[in-house]
Formats: sequence, structure tokens, C-alpha cells
Amino acid sequence: MYFIANWKMFGDLKSLKSLNKVINFSSKYKRKKFKLIYCPPYTLLDSFSKKIRKTRIELGAQNCHFEISNGPFTGSISPSMLKNIGSNYVIIGHSENRNMGDTDSQINKKINSSIKSGLKIIFCIGETLIQKKKKKTNQILSKQILKGLFKINNLNKILIAYEPVWSIGTGAVPRSFELEKNITFIKKILKNKFRIKNPKVLYGGSVNPKNAKNLAAINNIDGFLIGGASQKANNFIDIVKKTII
Ligand code: 13P
Repeated sequence: MYFIANWKMFGDLKSLKSLNKVINFSSKYKRKKFKLIYCPPYTLLDSFSKKIRKTRIELGAQNCHFEISNGPFTGSISPSMLKNIGSNYVIIGHSENRNMGDTDSQINKKINSSIKSGLKIIFCIGETLIQKKKKKTNQILSKQILKGLFKINNLNKILIAYEPVWSIGTGAVPRSFELEKNITFIKKILKNKFRIKNPKVLYGGSVNPKNAKNLAAINNIDGFLIGGASQKANNFIDIVKKTII
């Protein structure tokens, strides 16, 4: 199971302290099979990277530019810069970035250059509430996957995070049967169209210590991408505990 903390635009140097609890917790459960990945804002990547050295926690960034290394792109960060600072993962295609203008084709370019830089990808997809109401969920998910992964090699470096836009930060989560159906649909595309033998699909959207157990009971779920609840160490640890212990 993957547990990925997406801190979004939250956190400062003081919040690094909260990692101590998580580091202690994870070292107690060495034998349990789970992965912990933190995606703090760019400003904290370096400090995180130093802090988690020799722990089982891994580092990810929340976005990147599609240019692989350098270029005249004010305010942007490239995949190779992320790799250089100790990041192993990068989130690409988050709906909050799609909302700010990331297109499927830019997302495809970002995935391509990130893989070439040696990063693993947390590739976010998900339908809006209107799309869901119009019964367009499958259509949207398959379009996002087909365009995002177009001509991508090394598909084993990709984790999919299914994040219905209507469940992000709202407290609403899909019903179990619905979530299972959508994850099955996503896995089917990855297997049939991309020949990925054992695709990994995570769920994200209002995951918290109260609903984690029920969500984790869905049999084809491979982990969680957690926003708000990941900012407090106790909540993050609780989610892991409820899922795997
Ligand atoms: P919340 O857990 O705050 O709903 O955010 C989910 C998310 O967007 C993770 O990427």
C-alpha cells in the first residue's frame, strides 16, 4: 500500500518537526509492507530530503515543468532539478493544476521528461461533479489516461491516483461500489491498452482517519493520496494504522 502526503501550498520550516513522529512510527513497523511518500512544497524539498535520509520515507514534488533540465522559464522547476535535490516522485496532472491551465498534452510532456529524469510519476486523473452527473466518468478517465500516457515508455514508473474532483477537500467520498468500479475500469485500460501487467491505482479525495478503513477494504485499491489529513502527523499515522495494522 502507498500512502502519499500531498501538502499542497502548506507548510514551513517549523512543520518539519511533525516528521519526527512519522519517522518513529515507520521504523517501528519495518516488517509491514507499505510505502510512505511526502510531497511538500518546493521550498521544503531540500530540508525534507536531508531529514528523511536513512528512513523509509521517500520524497516527491507536487508538479514540474515539461522541459527536462534547464531553460528560460521564470518561476518553474524542472524534473532533473527535482531528481537532483533528492526527489524520487512527482505528482503530475493534479486537478488543481489542470484548473490552472495544465492540458492533457502538457501533462503528457511532463510525464515524459520526468521519467527520462529518473522520477516516478503520481499521475492524477478524475472527473468533475458535472461530468459524473452526466455519466461521463468513464469517458473522461479514459481520455485523460490515453492522452497523458501517449507514447510513454517505462510505464512501470507510473502510479495512477484516481481523484474525483468533487471529492477533493469536500468531505465527500465515492460510494464503495462506485470506487471499486472506477478503479477496475482504470486498471482495465492500463492492462489492455498499455500492457501494464500489475497497474497500481491509488485513491485520493477527503481520505481521513475515519474513512480510511472502509476505503482500504475496497479490494483493488493500492493506496491513498492524502491532502488535508496528511498535514498533521497523527492523522497521517492513523490512516496508515487503520489500513495496514
Ligand atoms: P484532500 O485529502 O484534502 O481532499 O485532498 C486530496 C488531494 O487533492 C490529494 O492530492
